[in-house]
Amino acid sequence: MHAIGIDIGGTKIAGALVDDDGVIVNEARVATPTGSTQLIEDTVVDMVTQLASGRLVEGVGVAAAGFIDAAQSTVYYAPNINWRNEPFQSRLSARIDLPIIIENDANAAGWAEFRFGAGRLVSDMVMLTIGTGVGGAFVTEDRLFRGGFGAGAELGHLRLIPDGLPCGCGQHGCLEQYASGRALLRMANEFADAGGIGQALAERRSISGILSGHDVAELIGEGDGGALAALRQLGNWLGQGCATLGAVLDPQLFVFGGGVAQVGELLLEPIRHSYLEHLPARGYHPEPEFRIAELVNDAGVVGAADLARVSARRTVPRN
Ligand code: BGC
Ligand code: NA
Ligand code: ZN
Repeated sequence: MHAIGIDIGGTKIAGALVDDDGVIVNEARVATPTGSTQLIEDTVVDMVTQLASGRLVEGVGVAAAGFIDAAQSTVYYAPNINWRNEPFQSRLSARIDLPIIIENDANAAGWAEFRFGAGRLVSDMVMLTIGTGVGGAFVTEDRLFRGGFGAGAELGHLRLIPDGLPCGCGQHGCLEQYASGRALLRMANEFADAGGIGQALAERRSISGILSGHDVAELIGEGDGGALAALRQLGNWLGQGCATLGAVLDPQLFVFGGGVAQVGELLLEPIRHSYLEHLPARGYHPEPEFRIAELVNDAGVVGAADLARVSARRTVPRN
């Protein structure tokens, strides 16, 4: 049977009708409306209505970038969207006659990779999504870890630097401030300011007045020294974060998703290097693999749909 997955991102809202095997049957995509939660709600309702039309749908999973409660219904806090205690599930349920769950975006992506992508051969994996923020998911013994109140695996808010940079979560020094797409841009700007290997970055910046993610990606593709140094710095922070996570979780695999991860091996190489450099008891226990996500842009919708199905099958049907 089919389920619907919706992924609310900072720039776009993606939706898909997904079958039992994680295959997308039909999909939709619109720019994320800015301004109010009401507009986002309207967009999601339209998208679900359109995707469900003429189909038997088991459930709807909505992935959102925030701390979410154990009932999979309220967004406690979204550092980069400004939602505070947002009862998103009940708002949607009032307008859509299907079982609905709200899921953390990175949990959805991590679950999709575990079920259908880079993690399908392991039982214990960590996923980090590198976008506007840094999202985390943790599968342990074949189950998605949620924590006692639902909001576990917020791995982007792992403290890396005491008294470090301020974070949207209200704390300082979180991994997100050193390993997100935004952090990569900040570091690229620092290289541009410093001159030397940052010269090409500085030239790009002077053309458009501002350095974009696209500029940095392009320079990375051209093998520019400054852009690669910024990427290496990002990988170095990620490797340190993973070493700490490894000590807690001992996963067989780390998977990296989100836009920045599309550079592939150029990112994995510094991550592996820094991981080993910071790994406790190095050389005396098995080391995990490091891989890039396979489902790329579809992980959020595929994972949200699959988790909606899992939840719908657990719930006693209403009649
Ligand atoms: C949020 C997470 C989210 C991640 C990626 C973080 O700032 O706290 O809930 O998964 O960004 O979107
Ligand atoms: Na998470
Ligand atoms: Zn934080």
